[in-house]
Amino acid sequence: MGEWAEFLRAAEEAAREAGRMLRQGMTQRREISYKGAVDLVTNFDERAQEMIFGRLSAAFPHHGFLAEEGLRREKAGDFLWVIDPLDGTTNYAHRFPVFCISIALQFKERVVLGLVYDPMRDEIFSAVEAEGAHLNGQKIHVSRVDDLNRSLLATGFPYDVRESRVNNIIHFNNFLVRAQAIRRCGSAALDLCYVACGRFDGFWELKLKPWDVAAGALMVKEAGGRLSDFSGAEFSIFSAETLASNGLIHEAMITVLQAGKAGESAARNRS
Ligand code: IPD
Ligand code: CA
Ligand code: CA
Repeated sequence: MGEWAEFLRAAEEAAREAGRMLRQGMTQRREISYKGAVDLVTNFDERAQEMIFGRLSAAFPHHGFLAEEGLRREKAGDFLWVIDPLDGTTNYAHRFPVFCISIALQFKERVVLGLVYDPMRDEIFSAVEAEGAHLNGQKIHVSRVDDLNRSLLATGFPYDVRESRVNNIIHFNNFLVRAQAIRRCGSAALDLCYVACGRFDGFWELKLKPWDVAAGALMVKEAGGRLSDFSGAEFSIFSAETLASNGLIHEAMITVLQAGKAGESAARNRS
């Protein structure tokens, strides 16, 4: 066990506890409120965040916290937990059983640990910097599919899809006729984990937030995959573009994304 074992154990305990609560909540009444036209939040998002923050802040009182439902706690030292207490909240609100808890730990601005828990399948994805990625304790690796035509891809759409022109529809249309198939499951953190374990060959999305991608991106990297923005430049959890793949189809995906961006700006210039 490496130097991050204690942190990983704490993250797993917190995720399992919140996961149990979320699984039970699937059959209970939930309160839904709207942050935007299609961006919703349930009382279970907040409850999960309280549980995870409660456990981790008790164990690590000097660490910083950044979590989706308005939680910001400045760090006194080098540690920052980046948390999505419920990724896939639209699914959750509709009782579509695809959602997860995503917890990552940054140390000196580097993500060193990532944990994603899917309570409906009881799947724990975990990754530790330079120690690989695991699914329920078994080492995982990205797929070996090297042809975009044979690839199963995943994506999602930003919450401003109705208002913004940069809404991913052009890339979706382009990949639809280039890949074998596309899935839109509604949880970016799980999409990234599925790239890491080879269920998907590639994933792209726009305007994701650090809590959506921090854990899943480390998972992909540690499983032997590649991450970048849509032009192939270095990926950051704060970046507006996320491209993750098994590495083998990465350049082909960049080509499609660049063509889409060129099309988008030509359309903008015409109007
Ligand atoms: C969303 C999911 C979804 C993605 C959205 C995210 P949330 O997170 O990850 O798959 O398409 O862009 O915001 O709101 O369910 O935590
Ligand atoms: Ca999310
Ligand atoms: Ca969320």
